Amino acid sequence: MKTAIYPGSFDPITNGHIDVISRALAIFDRVVVGVIHNPSKAPLFELNERMAMIQELFVHEPRLSVNTFNGLLIDFAKEQNVFNIIRGLRAVSDFDYEFQMAITNRHLSPQLDTIFLMTDVTYSYLSSSLVKQVAKYGGDVSTFVPLLVESHLKDKLNE
Ligand code: PNS
Repeated sequence: MKTAIYPGSFDPITNGHIDVISRALAIFDRVVVGVIHNPSKAPLFELNERMAMIQELFVHEPRLSVNTFNGLLIDFAKEQNVFNIIRGLRAVSDFDYEFQMAITNRHLSPQLDTIFLMTDVTYSYLSSSLVKQVAKYGGDVSTFVPLLVESHLKDKLNE
């Protein structure tokens, strides 16, 4: 069984993340989405809300599971006995930060590999932060996120 971890904040999951997950599922037998519990980043959605949205979107995909982690990604990977990390690359601008993370992770855990998957060009500009900003000011996010996420965004921003 080839398994990979796809870590991130997923605050909230976007169509770009979904594109990366679909590509990862075409390569790996199992994908574990690792949602970081990062209260210091003051996420819009609670950890359980971020996880539930991903679970609901992939309810018919038994090869995908959603888990949470705190602290170092390498410790989570060790705990899961997984040595492949997936990260999406949207544009060259992502590369510096992603390269730094991949090299740091490999330094800390030499058997760990980071596999970069290029998102479809349609999503090359898309980020959770921009989606939240657009939604906050009443803009249309229907092409950026699934309907389920769009409606959770509306509810959350009306709270
Ligand atoms: O969706 P994001 O916010 O770009 O995801 C970043 C994430 C969660 C993958 C990254 O911040 C992370 O792995 N954090 C865990 C802490 C860690 O392991 N840091 C050392 C790697 S440089």
